[in-house]
Amino acid sequence: MKVFISGKIPEVGVDMLKKAGYEVEMWTNSEPITLAELIDKCKQSDAYINVMSPVPESFFKEVTNLKVISTFSVGYNHIDIQSATRLGIPVGNTPDVLSNATADIAFLLLLNVSRKAFFNYRRIIEGNWKPGFLSVEYLGQELNGKTLGIFGMGRIGIKMAQKCKNAYEMNILYNNRHKQEEAEKELGAHYVSFEELLEQSDVISLHAPLTDENKGIFNASAFKKMKKTSILINTARGPMINEKDLIQAIQEGQIWGAGLDVTDPEPMKADNPLLCMENVAVTPHIGSATIEARNAMSALCAKNIIAGLKGEKLPCIVNPEVYK
Ligand code: DGY
Repeated sequence: MKVFISGKIPEVGVDMLKKAGYEVEMWTNSEPITLAELIDKCKQSDAYINVMSPVPESFFKEVTNLKVISTFSVGYNHIDIQSATRLGIPVGNTPDVLSNATADIAFLLLLNVSRKAFFNYRRIIEGNWKPGFLSVEYLGQELNGKTLGIFGMGRIGIKMAQKCKNAYEMNILYNNRHKQEEAEKELGAHYVSFEELLEQSDVISLHAPLTDENKGIFNASAFKKMKKTSILINTARGPMINEKDLIQAIQEGQIWGAGLDVTDPEPMKADNPLLCMENVAVTPHIGSATIEARNAMSALCAKNIIAGLKGEKLPCIVNPEVYK
């Protein structure tokens, strides 16, 4: 049986698949695979490891032969899961193993924005670090004892809350689809409504999966309710934030700043005004980009595929209803 992988992934998962006796083909071109090329490759395969290529409904109209798909990510909003389920194709993902790495990037962005680190670095490389000590310019703000609002208290949200609690004794609020007893007990976190999260948080960090309901939820009306000193961090998915409204909110001082690892669209254009703002830090979707996390994601993808090809339940399944 043949497994197609639509981008480079660490060898560990590829080796596992080969050891299990499968033929593996990996897309190694420097250009991302097109939808037509993806359809062609998957028509000739039994299983597919997705490396963040969009897999829309039209894909599943042509490709009906796959026995299993695993995405090399925890998020799966780029795949039309309903169509996969309709065809009886189990889809796996890679949760847990990237939670610490992703929360690290959220924490890194928060520290960065609060002390204007990227902006100050740019002052140096652009020749704007002039002689003389500046005592009132480029001041940041401290995080000790402030209130962190987590939007989406899943595995990554909990890790971010732990880091902020341990480093700065931050108070934790959260908004989630359901209450998280574990986080309440361990971190003293309080469940609040979305409005309360906006109004009471000094920092809001996004960790929810992208859904139709939360697309653009951080928009002009949300920013008006946030504190003028607040910082918004997004390591989840770009489209949860209305980027035009964010630019305006920062320019008009409705919120203090933002740290973004995900944007809308990706890649962000190099002339995006956010990149020149003093209180903004942007990284290019590197949440899970550590050796440890990526190796573990590769292995987990292989485990999903091997289980799917054997007709067993995937260790990490996003559409368990496929088994009903
Ligand atoms: C994920 O896993 O969803 C990340 O955003 C991609 O690394």
